[in-house]
Amino acid sequence: MASSRAAAIIMVVALAFAVLASRDTLLMTGGPYIDVLLGRRDGLTPASADLVFTIPAPSFDVPTLISSFGNRSLGVADLVALSGAHTFGVAHCPSFSDRFTPIIDAHPAIGPMFAKMLKAKCAKDVLEGTVTQPLDGATPKVFDNVYYSDLINRRGLLKSDQGLIDHPDTKGMATRFARNQLVFFAQFAKSMLKMSTMDVLTGSQGEIRLNCAVPNARAEGIETAGNEGHASNM
Ligand SMILES: *[C@@H]1O[C@H](CO)[C@@H](O)[C@H](O)[C@H]1NC(C)=O
Repeated sequence: MASSRAAAIIMVVALAFAVLASRDTLLMTGGPYIDVLLGRRDGLTPASADLVFTIPAPSFDVPTLISSFGNRSLGVADLVALSGAHTFGVAHCPSFSDRFTPIIDAHPAIGPMFAKMLKAKCAKDVLEGTVTQPLDGATPKVFDNVYYSDLINRRGLLKSDQGLIDHPDTKGMATRFARNQLVFFAQFAKSMLKMSTMDVLTGSQGEIRLNCAVPNARAEGIETAGNEGHASNM
């Protein structure tokens, strides 16, 4: 489902069995070094659809985002810092068309020229899902703090991004991250570590994978049903 993809980035960066890969990608693209604890037990079955649909949606306003993160023991600092993972990635038109349809959305406000550009671009999205727009249009290939400057410049792509610069609970931190990349990196590393220790399986639950991208049974050539999981189809 294309429209969920962008929203899922926040969680996927840390949770899709890819903490190590994320760490290496971050370093290669100029991002912060993050601690990775190895030996986390992975589930034997894919995440349920119920769980996947608790992932914050691009249409969420800040109070809903705070509630959603809070339900996962993540605070406002985690919300603002992890949203910065949108320094990478793209979104498809359905996940941001609420920013300009039918008229330009003023809550949170989007730059009129930016909205016009998006509208024109998505008007060509005849085959829905083919047009993409970078979440950080200014520096889409670098892990940096420019995402937060995009918000200040009213060029945040998703409603769930742009709102962070308006709401009194998140504005101060988003502004600080825009001004100081090191402060952003430090909080991002802290929040990633927190997420990587979330819902840890213990005892005989799950398994420690030999290859972090593949369940052990599959690594050994044993057929397992439905292992691709729900999240990976999104
Ligand atoms: C957070 O949890 C509460 C209590 O279970 C629930 O009512 C609320 O909808 C949840 N918030 C979000 C955004 O999912």
